[in-house]
Amino acid sequence: MVKKGLLLGCFILAAVSLSAQRTATIPYNEPYRPQAHFSPKEKWMNDPNGMVYYKGTYHLFFQHYPAATVWGPMHWGHAVSKDLVHWKQLPIALYPDKLGYIFSGSVVVDERNTSGFGTKDKPAMIAIFTHHDPKGEKAGSAKFQNQSIAYSLDEGLTWTKYKGNPVLKNPGIKDFRDPKVFWYSPGSKWIMSLATKDRITFYSSPDLKTWKKESEFGQVLGAHGGVWECPDLFPLKINGKEYWVLLVSINPGGPNKGSATQYFVGHFDGGKFTPIGSQTKWIDFGPDNYAGVTFGNTGNRKVFMGWMSNWLYANQVPTLKWRNAMTIPRELSLKLTAGDIWLTSYPVEELEKIVAKTIKVDAGLLAKDNNVFSVIKQTPAQYLLKFNTLAIKDYAVILSNTAGERLIVGFDAKNSRYYIDRTKAGLSTFSKQFAGKSYAPRLSLSPTSNFELLVDASSVELFADGGLSSMTGVYFPKKPYTRLSIVNNGMEIEKLQIQPLKSIW
Ligand code: FRU
Repeated sequence: MVKKGLLLGCFILAAVSLSAQRTATIPYNEPYRPQAHFSPKEKWMNDPNGMVYYKGTYHLFFQHYPAATVWGPMHWGHAVSKDLVHWKQLPIALYPDKLGYIFSGSVVVDERNTSGFGTKDKPAMIAIFTHHDPKGEKAGSAKFQNQSIAYSLDEGLTWTKYKGNPVLKNPGIKDFRDPKVFWYSPGSKWIMSLATKDRITFYSSPDLKTWKKESEFGQVLGAHGGVWECPDLFPLKINGKEYWVLLVSINPGGPNKGSATQYFVGHFDGGKFTPIGSQTKWIDFGPDNYAGVTFGNTGNRKVFMGWMSNWLYANQVPTLKWRNAMTIPRELSLKLTAGDIWLTSYPVEELEKIVAKTIKVDAGLLAKDNNVFSVIKQTPAQYLLKFNTLAIKDYAVILSNTAGERLIVGFDAKNSRYYIDRTKAGLSTFSKQFAGKSYAPRLSLSPTSNFELLVDASSVELFADGGLSSMTGVYFPKKPYTRLSIVNNGMEIEKLQIQPLKSIW
């Protein structure tokens, strides 16, 4: 795609090295270790769980197997952050027990002490999670997944499982998991969204211990190429009007193979979710954003974080000490485009805290002639790349290294779609499903666009058109990518900037 003859403007940025900030004593510096994203210190991680904001701290629990770098008996790992950017990993929060492994779920703060586990002055944090009984599964029972609770009176450090577990018993549905709970004020009750095979079932409770079925949603709507998992239901406003958004992860059956997360916009009356429209919508079209949900207790702000992997190869990616990271936390908003309501995702503003500086690149170098191709020969270790395009034509941003590997993120004007091409991005023999190209439709109707890319040691996240089209992909080059090229085919680019990011570790 990049022809030498097209090289009209070429410039080199001074090397920006952040390695000095990563001293040898900090262990988070292995090859492929994300420097701007959360990853476990070591061993296996999948879904984010129990994300909640409480007393100035963001809690992130996560599916964790502390004995190996592959999936196994699930625990809840735990990490905390004051700013959604810097994370500190804490001791394991929940261990498997005689009822089974600790699968995905959520955490609420019981301010009204409805459960009686705390007091109104010292409310309990309550985890609602799936107990997955591997023995029952092996024995062929359909009832091996049940919902249980545990409480913490020390801000999430230690947890006590409720003696009356499970609190919601399986009625005979093989896939019966991933409870996401919130307090529904108009009805003074807790609402649980639960993934029940090919639909979401809503339950309500006065005290988190007894649950009543309210309704089901989705058996004949949305994508159904796989099992439904990890739901999340929350309100968001647009122009002062409130809508409810329901996130549903699905595996397999995503738009670019394997795992992905769809969403529905609609209304919720305290018992029933009614969607508006019937189009299947995806929160992120890239291959690596799964099982994402939002933090509880953040008021009107909705912050989402997903697992930056895909079940097609999550157990095989070539990291040695740990496996898999989370996406950057993203603020979700609703946007009206082409007569429909869409969800946008955009990195939380707190990310600016680690912007080391802003390097403005003279866009004049890129803009004047046809087919301008620019090269930045020494990029920072992790950075944000931002620019606006004054028209919308084919273009490509190419990250490459001296081993001849490259990852391309671009726009295909004919089909009006963004793409991530990791066909030649680095190691891929660990899975036949890994190399390839994934696409995201462009939803914006604007004749101009904006492009933002968050590049880390082994991932890119694209937020195009203000986050209307987003894509996430991981990659494993033999050598770090240090070169950056932009093929703009004569399309004017303005406000081109690179922001090196400090390591969060
Ligand atoms: C989604 C998922 C959940 C389940 C967990 C098990 O990635 O399959 O449905 O609770 O992972 O680790």
